[in-house]
Amino acid sequence: MILQLSPRLLSGLVLAWQTAVAVAEWPQGETVDAFIATEREIALKGVLANIGPNGTKVPGAAAGIVIASPSKTDPNYFYTWTRDAALTLKTLIDELEFGNTGLQVYIEDYIHAQAILQTVTNPSGGLLPSGAGLGEPKYNADGTRYNGNWGRPQRDGPALRSIAMIQYSNYLISKGETGKVKDVIWPVISNDLSYTGQYWNSTGFDLWEEVSGSSFFTTQNQYRALVDGTALAKTLGVSCTGCDQAPQVLCFLQTYWNGKYFTANINGNFGRNGVDANVMLGAISAFDVNAPCNSSTLQPCHSRMLSNFNVFVNTFRDPSLYPINAGVAPNRGVALGRYPEDTYYSGNPWYLITLGAAEFLYDAVAQWTVQGRIAIDATSLPFFRTLYPNATIATYDKRCKRSTAYRQILAAASAYADSFVAVAQAHTPADGSLAEQFLKTAPGTPISAAALTWSFASFVSMAHRRAGKFPPSWTTPATSALPATCAATSAKGSYAPATGAGAPDVPSVCTSTVLFRVNATTYYGENIYLTGNSSDLGAWDLGSAQPMQSSNYTSERPLWFAKLPLTAGETISYSYVREEDCGQPWIWEDRNRTLVVPACVEGGETEVLLETDEKWEGEVGRGGGC
Ligand code: NOJ
Ligand code: NOJ
Repeated sequence: MILQLSPRLLSGLVLAWQTAVAVAEWPQGETVDAFIATEREIALKGVLANIGPNGTKVPGAAAGIVIASPSKTDPNYFYTWTRDAALTLKTLIDELEFGNTGLQVYIEDYIHAQAILQTVTNPSGGLLPSGAGLGEPKYNADGTRYNGNWGRPQRDGPALRSIAMIQYSNYLISKGETGKVKDVIWPVISNDLSYTGQYWNSTGFDLWEEVSGSSFFTTQNQYRALVDGTALAKTLGVSCTGCDQAPQVLCFLQTYWNGKYFTANINGNFGRNGVDANVMLGAISAFDVNAPCNSSTLQPCHSRMLSNFNVFVNTFRDPSLYPINAGVAPNRGVALGRYPEDTYYSGNPWYLITLGAAEFLYDAVAQWTVQGRIAIDATSLPFFRTLYPNATIATYDKRCKRSTAYRQILAAASAYADSFVAVAQAHTPADGSLAEQFLKTAPGTPISAAALTWSFASFVSMAHRRAGKFPPSWTTPATSALPATCAATSAKGSYAPATGAGAPDVPSVCTSTVLFRVNATTYYGENIYLTGNSSDLGAWDLGSAQPMQSSNYTSERPLWFAKLPLTAGETISYSYVREEDCGQPWIWEDRNRTLVVPACVEGGETEVLLETDEKWEGEVGRGGGC
């Protein structure tokens, strides 16, 4: 099933790289090769060390749980994110298909773990009846819910997870294991596709967990998931709830285009210009080496994608944004971050994004190589001019028309890709470990989460593409056809615990939303939590208490609030608690409170059905002076 370039095409690529050495005077071609040969192994080991139950860096992680990073402080990434885990598994599944069969146990553990996670009721909701809980972005390392404030829901997770599991399912089918796919894996996938079909047109948080709206990366992956799901359902002879939404999702995907680049987040006011790695990462996730460049699936070689790439990369060339990129030639790679307005850890370059740029270019080169031609239009011309100053609006064909130029452009694009790897290389410490970020100022020291699973996985994926190893095709001309007009549709999903894969047979729990409001005067640094006897309130365990928000706090009204979906009909006992600034003991109220959660109604999961209006009763706190 795996697509490899034929030896002839491959030698063409190799030739292209050799030519690149001469054309672009890339002095360290061999060094990049040697770096990749060593670092690839380190990166793969780095990924596996972060997966439970045996990962050496993540004791305590449950089987099949992919921890984002072993870092427990500054920042604490000792959790599992659905997105990071799925993208990582996608690369492990590629690696399995390229012959590393020892990885199968990790993939099987992952499927089992995800089947269980799907049933964990969490602050986004439950699996039953509406699937809302599938949009929860992260869980504790032991697979329990995470109650803290977070940007939720994030709707890319289910799509990414199903893309990975569908690829693995197709692999098993090619080995004759159709029955297992149908009974064990499809029920997990089916929940995620239901979710995608139901909520693709609802707003949610972006992959950086910061803004709520519609997000390119999410939409593009949602489209791919529904197309992949349609094909798998057909093979299995089952129906796919949600998959019929695919054409509308594709229609919507086109609307992110603004004439120069794809605005990463729309349907909200974000105070950003919309230039964001989000889009480039979407394109590498949707990559199909056999897709034509004009496919509306928006492949790396699509002229709008190339224009987007150029705008994105050039944004970070500005030395007032990233001093470390000062003086780099326009046809050479630079250090790349999430988006120019980023302030997280002061906004620095990320390894997975800088490596992602290399992967993006290797993907485009592979597509042009398969097609034997490069068609340059007005939209992509600025991109091509950075590689080949004489580029014009024309088709460069390997068979005759401008064949020399065709080869030179390919060579320059490959060299450009290598130069992004060289940027990451220059900031990789001697032990090969890859953190999340490196500083935007010289010498570019690694910063933020150490040994980030996603950074390692991005390295492995980039190395596959550079070596001419590609995952199976997923697009067809039919799946790229756009409806005449876009419509904001949705399909009601159908959800069930995937018991065949090990999920517990959880009952359908209807939730009703309660808005808790308490007036509690606090000093700066002090926080209010809600704790109570039910599991969603943390069962009186302060480690799992619900954080309250103070965004409407004023001196006239010192309001703390929390909007929580709770089990309908239950009588709960609860109380407010103060968390002090310097680790002093928590301060409990003098009393317990009770309320009856309203009965179940349609939509009660998100709509407030009951509000409290209370006042703190008990001692107040005092700053610890730390
Ligand atoms: C943690 C998120 O994961 C990260 O993406 C974000 O930038 C910071 N929180 C700040 O909101
Ligand atoms: C922050 C990133 O913004 C987000 O995309 C990622 O899922 C988490 N860190 C965990 O790595």
